[in-house]
Amino acid sequence: MLQGNGALITSRTQDTVQLEIRKIAVRDLSKARDGDAPADLFTTNLLDVVNDPAVDVVVELIGGTDAAYDLVEAALKAGKPVVTGNKALLAERGGPLFALSKEHNAPIHFEAAVAGGIPIIKAVQESLVGNRIESIAGIINGTSNYILQRMTEAGLGYPEALKEAKELGYAEADETLDVNGWDAAHKAILLASLAHGFVIDPEKVYVRGIEKVTPLDIRFASELGYVVKLLSLVHKCQNGDIEIRTQPSFLSKKHILASVHGVFNAVAVKGDHLGESLFYGRGAGQGPTASSVVSDLVEAARNSRADRGFLPYKESGPLREIDESKTSYYVRFSVNDQPGVIAEIASILAQHKIGISGTHSPVDADNPDAEFLEMVFLLHTCPFGQLKLALQEVEKLACITARPVVFRIENL
Ligand code: HSE
Repeated sequence: MLQGNGALITSRTQDTVQLEIRKIAVRDLSKARDGDAPADLFTTNLLDVVNDPAVDVVVELIGGTDAAYDLVEAALKAGKPVVTGNKALLAERGGPLFALSKEHNAPIHFEAAVAGGIPIIKAVQESLVGNRIESIAGIINGTSNYILQRMTEAGLGYPEALKEAKELGYAEADETLDVNGWDAAHKAILLASLAHGFVIDPEKVYVRGIEKVTPLDIRFASELGYVVKLLSLVHKCQNGDIEIRTQPSFLSKKHILASVHGVFNAVAVKGDHLGESLFYGRGAGQGPTASSVVSDLVEAARNSRADRGFLPYKESGPLREIDESKTSYYVRFSVNDQPGVIAEIASILAQHKIGISGTHSPVDADNPDAEFLEMVFLLHTCPFGQLKLALQEVEKLACITARPVVFRIENL
């Protein structure tokens, strides 16, 4: 991108910005790479990048939270601005790094850390600075979205779909973070910190991934008018609590986020003056990531003031307990087909004051006497904690053969 568009960038910045690569640290020098960077730019020592006096800005794109931390820490201590796409690093260990950034007046830029090529960080940090942010709802992991899509439309199994996503370069170096929900959760934590101004402890955030989503639930979702999406939500509750969660959820096929397919990401932001807005684009892959990294490089080159970066201005804030968060639900029970099974489940739900809004149990048209093994209940809105208590009791019934499967139905 710098080779192809560097002259354009220089012109656009009225000759104030010229970006030149001085050093590239890699794990393995012998690995074949696209591009034609001269061999003498490469090193295997990360600190060579920081210590070279010709380097003004350090770009960290190695992932992980240990070596990356040391690199960013060293760069900031040397007063060099940092551009990073590392959401795990900033969400897990951002506190001390942002303190160092301030101390050494060296900004951290991280547009590439959230939603790939979509300029959502600058939008929230700058364009929406005058708004109170009421909610953020996003599909912000391209790998999971791609996998769910391929499972839904091409009928692929989970491992095949994951393999494709890796081959396309969407997955993180450690793809477990993509599929266990944490990559999206880290991004949601960064967005929530920007929107609400306080440091968020990742341990207090509710996160579930897509690893256990089955083709059966994807099919039932579709039959009921929903799609399954890995949704990340940051919601300001009426009492001021901030609810943050990431989990595979049911979303009406008619909702605009249901049309976000493949590697695309979308972030819906609602501001008190702005109202609703939607940011959409490619959430992963080389080109979109490079687009965000280069925009940060230009910003870093133009402006070295640390206060342009992420600055939580409060130590803490009110996070909502997950048990208090409310939605409606899809619950699938695996059962032994015997008279009274529906009544037994329904009766426990009623004792817990949980209403049923619908049921689903497909019948084989050619064999109406076939045993039914899966019984779906759609449940009215209630706190998650109330549902958990009811399900603990249901699980003890003799007719139940597996743990109930729960999806939230999001009415965004
Ligand atoms: N692994 C990430 C994703 C890439 O799949 O969305 C960008 O964060």
